Amino acid sequence: RHPGWPAKLGPLRVPAGILDVRPVRLRDAGEWSRVRLRDREHLEMWEPTGVGPWPDRNAFWSWPSQWLALRGLARRGQCLPFTITVDGHFAGQITVGNVIRASLRSAWIGYWVSSDIVRGGVATGAVALVTDHVFNFGGLHRLEATVRPENTPSLRVLAKAGYRQEGLFERYLDVAGGWRDHFCYAVTKEETGDGLVSRLVAKGLAERV
Ligand code: ACO
Repeated sequence: RHPGWPAKLGPLRVPAGILDVRPVRLRDAGEWSRVRLRDREHLEMWEPTGVGPWPDRNAFWSWPSQWLALRGLARRGQCLPFTITVDGHFAGQITVGNVIRASLRSAWIGYWVSSDIVRGGVATGAVALVTDHVFNFGGLHRLEATVRPENTPSLRVLAKAGYRQEGLFERYLDVAGGWRDHFCYAVTKEETGDGLVSRLVAKGLAERV
């Protein structure tokens, strides 16, 4: 067992509904594939360049190998791969990856949310829940999020959740078929005070249930 894994986070009431975050499951295959095949236009331009066509990479049968890989990394303490649910239904993923321990104790965070429930505070709530969790129980000190400058919704999510912009990484990630610049956002444990969720609650953006 590694610190902070496995874990169930929430529930939190956000405008879209009741938000929960829990480990990815093999039986997420059906909903994961259905949503991602439908949401290609919403997702593809923000995601790492993949090998092979979108319909193949996101087919029902491609989930088990992704799930196994994520589970393996999680068991080695290198990743915390979560599914986001809203009102009990699959609503996206949020992942803490490339966990480095020792004197760095840092990782990246990344997320996507189903197009039918965007603009309902889901990603912001999930980022706050996961950030508080890895600082309180995962033994981490810093989380980093890299976002394309064009990704207005994601930049908004990080600002609302309490991340700071640190700089611009040029030609940083192979996303949607090219080397894309990314803003680097980050937060360290001592900046979070009573926690990012408490701050969202105080601002009226979420409610503990
Ligand atoms: N222009 C301006 N603002 C916008 C737009 C737009 N076109 N679309 C949404 N927004 C704003 C919303 O109004 C909201 O801000 P507000 O509360 O101030 O009004 C904010 O963006 C979105 O906040 P949430 O509702 O918490 O986020 P949501 O659950 O909608 O998820 C996300 C946002 C994850 C970026 C979603 O749109 C998505 O999955 N996009 C595709 C994949 C993606 O880009 N993932 C992030 C990659 S970067 C990374 O992982 C670090």
